[in-house]
Amino acid sequence: MSKEDISRRQFLNYTLTGVGGFMAAGMLMPMVRFALDPILEPSADQKMVAVTPVDKLTNEPKRFDYKVKQKDGWYESDVTLSAWVYKAKNGDIIALSPICKHLGCTVDWNTDPSHPSQFYCPCHFGRYTKDGTNVKGTPPLAPLDVFESKVKDGKLYLGKAKPRKGA
Ligand code: FES
Repeated sequence: MSKEDISRRQFLNYTLTGVGGFMAAGMLMPMVRFALDPILEPSADQKMVAVTPVDKLTNEPKRFDYKVKQKDGWYESDVTLSAWVYKAKNGDIIALSPICKHLGCTVDWNTDPSHPSQFYCPCHFGRYTKDGTNVKGTPPLAPLDVFESKVKDGKLYLGKAKPRKGA
């Protein structure tokens, strides 16, 4: 027998190790996938959610509350989100996040009598113009976030709220 030849015992060892490894991988893969799947899946807040029929929108910002399914790892829950939505003069639909860019309080529309037709944050008197731009000289340093939106079958769908550059 030459040095390159493998013995019957070695051949059996290699074969059994290979087959054993293959079978172990086959058994472990579903378990690993089950463990990692929820983490790798895109979260629900990335999906678009139907919020309101478009014909309910006016030129005046209106607050819409809606629910989204949120998946946090393996935990699923319903979360209520809000958006201030109105139709701009050119027909565009504007959907603004109600979360103040100063310290995260909730802004209201047209509730400060001394500054009508503005978004107002009661926590530290932050103000934003109708398009969500922060008013200079008030605490917020950035405009309100804008939701990704689309209209389909007469309904407004909202996605993620995205930040804009400050005024
Ligand atoms: S949290 Fe809105 S102004 Fe401070």
